Amino acid sequence: MMKSPAAETQSTELFGVGLRRPHFDEILDHHPGVDFLEVLSENFMTFGGRPREVLKRARERLPIVLHGVSLSLGSLGELNQRYLEKLAQLIDFVRPPWFSDHLSWAAHGGVEYHDLIPLPFTEEAVRHVVKKIKQVQDRVRLPFLLENPSYYLELPGKEMSEAEFVREVVTRADCGLLLDINNVYVNATNHGYDAHAFIESMPTGRVLQYHMAGHDASGEMIIDTHGSHIAPEVFALYQHAILQLGTAWTLVEWDNNIPSLEVLLEENDRVRHAAAQALGRARASAA
Ligand SMILES: [Fe+2]
Repeated sequence: MMKSPAAETQSTELFGVGLRRPHFDEILDHHPGVDFLEVLSENFMTFGGRPREVLKRARERLPIVLHGVSLSLGSLGELNQRYLEKLAQLIDFVRPPWFSDHLSWAAHGGVEYHDLIPLPFTEEAVRHVVKKIKQVQDRVRLPFLLENPSYYLELPGKEMSEAEFVREVVTRADCGLLLDINNVYVNATNHGYDAHAFIESMPTGRVLQYHMAGHDASGEMIIDTHGSHIAPEVFALYQHAILQLGTAWTLVEWDNNIPSLEVLLEENDRVRHAAAQALGRARASAA
């Protein structure tokens, strides 16, 4: 798989947070304890004075990765070329080591939905998404990472497990994997499979980034909210993932009920500590 020069020369043990409006000035002026930033592509696609200035400052200070929600790889029909061109322009400006989007769809027949909608776990869907990812990779010569989304309804006609589906798409498209650990936990709990086994069945050498986030477990189903602290079970699963699949840049996703920067950075430190603890234990037992 193609790796970016940045991915080859920089440490894989970097810990970052999303660049969100309430923290723009504070994080760009001081950026304490943050190794990289993730930017939501759609928030910066329309270049104007303020977004461009923020991105320029961010780019000068820290590595940035771009994360999108609108490629809609699972939609029937052609890729949205207008969106792809805007994304390519943003990539040229930011020069990230990679860019990412989700294994889902969000638009159909010109209508955009606000949710990421899952795909049926079928061979036809694998072929469809692989074709679209290859088109994206043909247009943008930079590693593309696919994220495993959370979903609450399993579509009928399933021919393989979710893990097999993710593995098939990523391997056949020859792209990277942005493994969202909270999504694995949420899906495994809601749909009754073993989260640790899911991690173990992911392809090695493909994970360039992890997402960590909070969820809401107060109802009948667990909801992926990105609006609270990361649960202990998700930390444990993350430690399992880095021992099984290797370290990778890890991001705290906190998009709702956005806390103070201080709280966000404490969460980032907890993730850094969890990784060090897992690696330390592994090294001690190997010695
Ligand atoms: Fe995520």
